[in-house]
Formats: sequence, structure tokens, C-alpha cells
Amino acid sequence: MNLMKNIRIALTKGRIEKSAIKIFENIGIDCSQLKNKGRKLIFKSNNSNIEFVLVKAADVLTYVEHGTVDIGIVGKDTLLEQNKEFYEVADLKIGKCKFSLASLPSFNINEGYNRKKIATKYPNVAANFFRSKGFDVEIIKIEGSVELAPILGLADAIIDIVETGNTLRENGLVIFENVCDISARMIVNRASMKMRKNEIVDIIQKIEKYVEGGSND
Ligand code: PRP
Repeated sequence: MNLMKNIRIALTKGRIEKSAIKIFENIGIDCSQLKNKGRKLIFKSNNSNIEFVLVKAADVLTYVEHGTVDIGIVGKDTLLEQNKEFYEVADLKIGKCKFSLASLPSFNINEGYNRKKIATKYPNVAANFFRSKGFDVEIIKIEGSVELAPILGLADAIIDIVETGNTLRENGLVIFENVCDISARMIVNRASMKMRKNEIVDIIQKIEKYVEGGSND
């Protein structure tokens, strides 16, 4: 547990970083250091006892689970993939996208007797999806450029994140089924939620009010 006075928040680096900073600024938390970050990874807010750290999505969960940080901002995709302990307390409604089953237009999951091969960066999400549908598939874990897998013949189809759909379109792939919607969530360490309850609930309420106000859609 983080016993220091600061409330420490881990933000996922990259795609949702700017929108998350915008939310914190709009609820009155100074983020000026984060906006001129250079290569720094840890940033103190000038008008509150909040400290931000920038980490990769999967590491947000690790830091939150261990209590090294109190709060994490991370995509639902990562929460679904990793089996970690935390409270999910708010939907920030940023970084909206979805998990989809996609492939070349000729793909047919019901055709043939061979076990279908599915390439993905999210093996647990993919396995759960096909288990729920009663399909026995072989999951092939890859690290990126997932759309290449059916084109090159590594897999029959993919389970991947679709945001604008441009990557699928530009590579001649189509969606066969949507698995679920994704957006950025706020998560809280279980002990922090008890020990720093008032401060954390205050942040949650301000974020919810801002997000519900629709200014963030
Ligand atoms: C993600 C995802 C898709 C793409 C979807 O990849 O895996 O490839 O974004 O976005 P779109 O629908 O707006 O085209 P990312 O850009 O994170 O890179 P990666 O291929 O290295 O995983």
C-alpha cells in the first residue's frame, strides 16, 4: 500500500493519455507537468496532493493490485484480459472502441471440420468468447499487426480491437461479430479504497459528474 501522503494515479501511456489528462484538468487537478513531460515518468500536481505516473496498460493493473499506486486509468480491454484484483469504479467514456471477430470476407466459422486458428493480442478474451459460443478453437498469441495473420495464413481469423475500422478496411478484412465495447476505466486498489476513502470517493464523484455531463463524448 502507498503510505505516502500523495494519492498516486497511474495513467496508461499513449492513446488515452491526452483525454485522461483533460478529464483531470476539468475536475480541477493541475496537470501542467504532465503536459510538458519530456522523458519524465512521474509528475506532481501543483494544486493537489496527487501524483501521476505514466506506465503501459498492463502495468497499470500490476501497480494498482500491489498498492504501489492508489488509482489507475486503463482500458477495459486490459481489465478483461488480466486476472487481477482491484475495484472498477468509473467509466471515463474515452478511448471508445470494441473487440471484434474479423477476417477475410471468405471466412466462415461454421465451414469445415478443422479447428479454427484465431490470432490475437488478447488470448483470454478470445478464449472466453469462443468458449461462450461453444467453439473449440486454437488461439495463437501475437504482439501486434494482428490484421496480418489471416492475410498471411497464420490464422483463420482474429479477435482484435477496432476503433475507426481503418486498419481492417485498408487490409481487406471485415467484421463477423462484435465481442464487446471497450472504454477507459478508473480502477482503485482495494486497501486504498478503505484507507483513503474520502479523498478517492471525492475524485470518483467529480469524474462521474464531469463524464455524465457529456462534455467528454
Ligand atoms: C490497434 C488494433 C488495431 C487498430 C485498430 O492496434 O490492434 O490494429 O489499433 O484501430 P482502427 O480501427 O482505428 O484502425 P495498434 O495501433 O495499437 O497497433 P499494433 O498493431 O502494434 O497492436
